[in-house]
Amino acid sequence: MQINPMKTCLLFIMLSIMNTTSFAQQKTNDDSIRQKMEWFSDAKLGIFIHWGIYAVADVSESWSFHNKQISWPNYMKQANSFTASKYDPADWAALIAASGARYAVITTKHHDGVALWNTKENHYSTVKSTPAKRDLLTPFYQELRKRNIKAGAYFSLIDWSHPDYPGFLKDSSRYKINDDPARWERFRKFYQNQLNEVTTQFNPDLYWFDGDWEHSADEWESQKVRAGILSSNPNAIINGRLMGYGDYETPEQNIPVSRPKYNWWELCMTTNNNWGYRKTDTAWKTPYEIIALFADVISTGGNFLLDIGPREDGTIPKEQRLILTELGAWNRKHEKAIFGTLGGIAPGHFYGPTTISKDSTSLFLFLQGQTSGTIMVKGLSNQIKAISVVGNGTELKHKVVGKISWSPVPGLVYIDVPKGVQDNYITVLELTLDKPVQLYRGHGGFLTN
Ligand code: GLC
Repeated sequence: MQINPMKTCLLFIMLSIMNTTSFAQQKTNDDSIRQKMEWFSDAKLGIFIHWGIYAVADVSESWSFHNKQISWPNYMKQANSFTASKYDPADWAALIAASGARYAVITTKHHDGVALWNTKENHYSTVKSTPAKRDLLTPFYQELRKRNIKAGAYFSLIDWSHPDYPGFLKDSSRYKINDDPARWERFRKFYQNQLNEVTTQFNPDLYWFDGDWEHSADEWESQKVRAGILSSNPNAIINGRLMGYGDYETPEQNIPVSRPKYNWWELCMTTNNNWGYRKTDTAWKTPYEIIALFADVISTGGNFLLDIGPREDGTIPKEQRLILTELGAWNRKHEKAIFGTLGGIAPGHFYGPTTISKDSTSLFLFLQGQTSGTIMVKGLSNQIKAISVVGNGTELKHKVVGKISWSPVPGLVYIDVPKGVQDNYITVLELTLDKPVQLYRGHGGFLTN
């Protein structure tokens, strides 16, 4: 083959233009994703709300009939006693604001298919199927937005009550998609219409899909669903349960041991053992345990989505109110160590959770279960300008041990934490540094990176 230098040159120019465009494109995508995710990274805390007819009969949300602990007809009978008679959306939003949360995510519809808004589709809703007889979401979203709390919509892709949805009970399904693609197409239209209603009526800041695991991205049309949401609101954030088309990961009830490699993630967790209200579930986590979990999550770079499950009448159990208000008081006191911070330093430097201010010149240490005494930080190459107790202001003394003047190896920082400065739950110290935090991993014989 003859090589034509002119053609080769042209080809080369074309290829490099294509390359830079796709690189530039990629970069804009990354930049715009980063931009849209900013409020989420700064927010740290969201409140999850599971509310539905499952609050009536002390059964778990949707799963109880799917797993045959109760028959489907009996499960659905709960709708007759779902009243929302004491529902006070302003009170809910005020409690969420008091917790310090920056966003809330409510179940617009769980796997049982009962919508909490006035869906036009011919299917169950709190308006048509319960004595509550109304759209419960509009007033709640209004109250959230009055308080500048971002509005999230949990939406179950699965709908085990819909006659055109393949899945039903754990050991029986209605049909297979391949055997009846037209029926699946009907369901797909139905679910996408409902999703459009949610989009046009509430314009959620965040979409929290669930149940994607039952079908593939192609079957759900995940790509189209994502594009549809973003065309109506380019800033909408989508959780990672859309078969690969979301923005962030959602580990469930699962505190990571080491820092996950994701850019964005959110741990969702119950306050007792169930997502929805159950009279007999008294396994409440204590405010201390919740605060400790929260500190751990932000230290490892994540958000915390803490769940509450209101009763059928709309009242929130006092144990959940206590957790939210105690967490809120602690958040207000330690605000600068929590909101708008970055995940902390590797655990070997300090035996506990840490966070870093956005400009990286403050390092916050969370003293878990610590009363008073000496604490130690290893491998910190910075000079410490000051140490204070967050929310209390007391200045603390420190001592650097083992620093050799000619060596880059930093000494050990010992800090005295006197009696009387402790928080009831978790005390936080701020180390003000001479410049952005610098860590030394050195040649200790084991760690080189
Ligand atoms: C699960 C369950 C569901 C619950 C959700 C919350 O995926 O299917 O019942 O709503 O987790 O994260």
